[in-house]
Amino acid sequence: MNKINMVDLKGQYENIKPEIDIAIADVINATAFINGPAVKEFQENLEKYLGVKHVIPCANGTDALQVSMMALGLKPGDEVITTDFTFIATAEVIALLGLTPVLVDVDPDTFNIDIAAVERAITSKTKAIVPVHLFGQCADMDALMELARIHDLFIIEDACQAIGADFIFADGSRRKAGTIGHIGCTSFFPSKNLGCYGDGGAIFTNDAELAHQIRVVVNHGMTVRYYHDYIGVNSRLDSIQAAILNVKLRKLDEYATARNFAASYYTKAFAGNSKLRVPAKYPKSTHVFHQYTLVTKDIDRPELLAFLASRDVPAMIYYPVPLHLQKAYLNPRYREGDFPVTEALCKSVISLPMHTELNEEQLQHITSSVLEFVNQS
Ligand SMILES: Cc1ncc(COP(=O)(O)O)c(C=O)c1O
Repeated sequence: MNKINMVDLKGQYENIKPEIDIAIADVINATAFINGPAVKEFQENLEKYLGVKHVIPCANGTDALQVSMMALGLKPGDEVITTDFTFIATAEVIALLGLTPVLVDVDPDTFNIDIAAVERAITSKTKAIVPVHLFGQCADMDALMELARIHDLFIIEDACQAIGADFIFADGSRRKAGTIGHIGCTSFFPSKNLGCYGDGGAIFTNDAELAHQIRVVVNHGMTVRYYHDYIGVNSRLDSIQAAILNVKLRKLDEYATARNFAASYYTKAFAGNSKLRVPAKYPKSTHVFHQYTLVTKDIDRPELLAFLASRDVPAMIYYPVPLHLQKAYLNPRYREGDFPVTEALCKSVISLPMHTELNEEQLQHITSSVLEFVNQS
């Protein structure tokens, strides 16, 4: 059996090596490293794939979130509501810009932002909501859009973990994660569902004016060459990364199918086990399984991790600490016990290997190793 990795970028590369190598060599031969034709091509391909009017590539997912907030003109003191159960970048950029992160708890089944909690957190200072489509499944976007309409708020979707997932509206129509709110953000970090071979990110919007402002902000706040009307940043997607992404975008749906195959295998093995809760299937979204995350019950998690390691099965805890208990974000406004769902999840979740190259032999070894430990504990 091949070594099991949490993410198998080498195995994936080997399957697409000829196309990737040519794409990279083309950029080098043209020495079009910055803003080369591959970037424009990728932008257009992604617009088509997502069904969104404007894609603005940038340097990473964190920048995508920061630039979005800058382009919307959010000002220090403005409140931005987001989830307590996410990767730190979501709240980090809010804090960096001097905005006030207002954290709320999540739904225990989907792990996504709790809509009733968002509603309770809205004040006269609230300017935006940042839902995170965690682990590959969309948050309740139609409920959030309705809240945004009523309270005149912006929605910035953090779709860093959910590119390619569909949100399914009540009438059955679908839209891609990141294209429903005023702005959507994604990351092309190598381990992401659409990952490049370095850092990368993109911002999506259907609003032409916002798209213009985002393009200005990512380019040093420059409106006309060397005329800077705004304070901006330098956030570009390298041409080599864009060329790689052009190849991988063509495979994205196939990759989601492979991830779903692994997820179904896991769920079939674990469903019904009283000590393991398998990921809930949210009816309003397809799932692209950025992560396959179990909730454990009455299990010593460090011991489970050690047992799996002894069987050469990697596993990770996404995430071990809720945002409101992270040292840098401690705030008299919040204390332990404020977000009971997130706090319980941080103590009980475990994510299993998830990538496009997992085969049945590996999945069998992973599931039997987990069950061996669980059934004897
Ligand atoms: C939910 C979420 N938001 C933001 C980011 C930041 O993306 P990046 O690492 O490309 O800056 C990530 C990934 O790392 C993420 O998972």
